[in-house]
Amino acid sequence: MTSHSKDGYGAKRGSPRKERAASTETRRPRTRALVLVPVLKRQGRRTGDKASKPTLDSHTPESRLAEAVGLANAIDLDIIDSAIVPMSAPRPATLLGSGKVDELSQRVRDLEIGLVIVDHVVTPVQQRNLEKAWNTKVLDRTGLILEIFGERARTREGVLQVELAHLSYQKGRLVRAWTHLERQRGGGGFLGGPGEAQIELDRRMLQDRIDAIKRELADVVKTRDLHRKGRRKVPYPIVAVVGYTNAGKSTLFNKVTGAGVVAMDQVFATLDPTMREVKLPSARRIILSDTVGFISDLPTMLVAAFRATLEEVVEADLVLHVRDIAHEETEAQARDVEKVLGELGIDTLPVDSNILEVWNKIDLVSHDRRAELQHEALRNARPPVLVSAATGEGIVPLLDAIDDRLSVADEILEVIVPGSNGQLLNWLHETCDVLARESRKDGSVDLRLRIPSEKKLRVLGQLRKAGLKV
Ligand code: GTP
Repeated sequence: MTSHSKDGYGAKRGSPRKERAASTETRRPRTRALVLVPVLKRQGRRTGDKASKPTLDSHTPESRLAEAVGLANAIDLDIIDSAIVPMSAPRPATLLGSGKVDELSQRVRDLEIGLVIVDHVVTPVQQRNLEKAWNTKVLDRTGLILEIFGERARTREGVLQVELAHLSYQKGRLVRAWTHLERQRGGGGFLGGPGEAQIELDRRMLQDRIDAIKRELADVVKTRDLHRKGRRKVPYPIVAVVGYTNAGKSTLFNKVTGAGVVAMDQVFATLDPTMREVKLPSARRIILSDTVGFISDLPTMLVAAFRATLEEVVEADLVLHVRDIAHEETEAQARDVEKVLGELGIDTLPVDSNILEVWNKIDLVSHDRRAELQHEALRNARPPVLVSAATGEGIVPLLDAIDDRLSVADEILEVIVPGSNGQLLNWLHETCDVLARESRKDGSVDLRLRIPSEKKLRVLGQLRKAGLKV
């Protein structure tokens, strides 16, 4: 078994953004988790068929482990340890062979693990048996992803879709558990009993709830556009960060929010930690919004829920598509992301799109590859920005690029402000991008301003109030 200790490769700690999210809550101790990636021995390595569509099995065990740890980090867990577990064949009762189960049992005890995440499909029977053997909770891949979506869903539709997926998941597990019980008793499904009656009752309750959610969803979708208009409360442009899990979204999010000057008061006390206010070098304020990461081989039952968590992207003024440019599957990942964005109604054609690609992890590529990428970027109609969220390289050009893309709807205005009105001058400097400033002999000041579109009315109002002709 390949193991990765807390200090090793597999133990990605929660990013600052994620830790900050936790720190605002009570001092509830974070659950100590172990992440396991079971890998069939014959699938342990790549097949070498580069042209094939990447699937879970075509990922290297290491990249699967990195992804699983990244996912586990997306909820508030303390990842103590992670490991790739080779298996010759999945065992119906415990998934892993008994030797492995025992070995892990020891480790779970030693490390005081409270949750084991198994990045694999785990049947209800396997889950029960593993939970008993390890005396801890076990979550499979679908369960983990559901937890993440549950935390991240913001819109009513998102919450409902996630709940729907959760209930379908539970219902599937009830049915299968029941079948298993029947088989154990050797019955043909005709045996009555309190266990079965209870399961049947649970199943009916779940089905009732599923039906109710589906009805509500139909309503929500019908009135979605109406709601969307009312929902937008923030006064600044929204820049949404999307990308594959592990592309570096949260690292970038933290770097950018660290680089910008953030006002602590105002409306943003009400924003959740995945939204932050950032002041760009031009004085433009934006709301940077982080989204849930894309995941390879998303279980089918979770597709609708995932899309619903991306709803806010539809409302964004600009979408930052963060790519791990050093990843060997970066192109396939980008196509996947674009496909989903396209399905959400976001134009992905370079010329019209409101997407800005951010080629992250540039620090990991060779000198030659970097030159190639720079060349490729410049050939693009909408040139991507090359950055390293880890080192901070390229962050300032990225802020400028965001500014440029948002400035399309800005107003350029020239005004003469009396020198005596220092307060107005200060306010204009604070609120607008001052493109040029020239003092006249009489003390008044010529200003050439770029007014962000969303502030146009306010600025014009202030200028008129000061008696200026605009
Ligand atoms: P999810 O929350 O799972 O969707 O992932 P994410 O896209 O938010 O990625 P995250 O910021 O958590 O980064 C994933 C891993 O990549 C972490 O180990 C980061 O330290 C690392 N990373 C992010 N950006 C860079 C970079 O520019 N260079 C290098 N070398 N590593 C980076």
